[in-house]
Amino acid sequence: MNEQFLNDVIIGLSAKTKKLDSKYFYDDEGDRLFQKIMHSEEYYLTDCEHEIFQEKSAALSDLFMEQLQAFELLELGAGDASKTSSLLKVLVEKQANFTYMPIDISGSMISYLEENLPTKMPGLQVSGLNGEYFPMLEKANTISERKKAVLFLGGNIGNMDPDDALAFCKQLHASLNTGDYLLMGFDLRKNPHAIFNAYNDKAGYTKAFNINLLRRMNTELGADFDLLQFEHYNSYDPVSGACRSFLISLVHQEVKIAGQIFSFEANEVVDMEISQKYSLEEIYDIGNQTNFEVVETFFDSKKWFLDILWKVA
Ligand code: AVI
Repeated sequence: MNEQFLNDVIIGLSAKTKKLDSKYFYDDEGDRLFQKIMHSEEYYLTDCEHEIFQEKSAALSDLFMEQLQAFELLELGAGDASKTSSLLKVLVEKQANFTYMPIDISGSMISYLEENLPTKMPGLQVSGLNGEYFPMLEKANTISERKKAVLFLGGNIGNMDPDDALAFCKQLHASLNTGDYLLMGFDLRKNPHAIFNAYNDKAGYTKAFNINLLRRMNTELGADFDLLQFEHYNSYDPVSGACRSFLISLVHQEVKIAGQIFSFEANEVVDMEISQKYSLEEIYDIGNQTNFEVVETFFDSKKWFLDILWKVA
């Protein structure tokens, strides 16, 4: 049994407002559902960032090559590297002197990337790092003394509370060296309807994505959640920029997890995920507070998403 998962679940469900960590959404079924979300009509984040990479990879690769010459390109939470492939292609075409170092918690994903990417892009050097972000960044620093360009894309920073996001950026800054680069993807504030709809898709993939965590606890932790007795509720607060997902218990019910009973009142909420939306001002503020200097801003044509390029000052 995954002790860390069990521990986090017990702590989260014992809190005054019950909470589950959205990092546990991504088992095989969660990955499959997230793919469906990304391809849904309402979920714009992936398309916006894809457009940025299509349009701006040439400029970005020139910048990396001029400023860094020889470097390691690290990607935090690389997944299947679909976000990065246009940048990798351009860098390979331009014969940039770099190694792609995807960091991912999934060992099978890292093996997949190491085997497949060089076949798809002959000449590409891939050296995967399987593990948590910060220990793997440290490992990268011990393996190579070359300059680093780190990618943290997809709006993943939004899945942290704003205070945690700031602390995360501080820790990233501490893990890098002066002159290293960080490209971070932020989902921007926009018409609240567009944001609300992205997390309330008509096909119900987001709902299934949330409910899947209960199913995962049933299979992996021996819990006995009745999946039909919870519904999904999503809200977006345009004042704070917080888009939040909840599960709501439809009835008074008790759930057993590893011998412990958790009681849910009717209409009690379980806080599942935050997807924070940022203003430009807030993003600049994070950079200022964490000592990252803005080098370039890459927007999609609607200005719905921003990949900001920061340099470690
Ligand atoms: C991975 N992350 C940026 C997604 C988001 O938009 O917060 C996860 C997600 N949750 C529901 N839909 C997508």
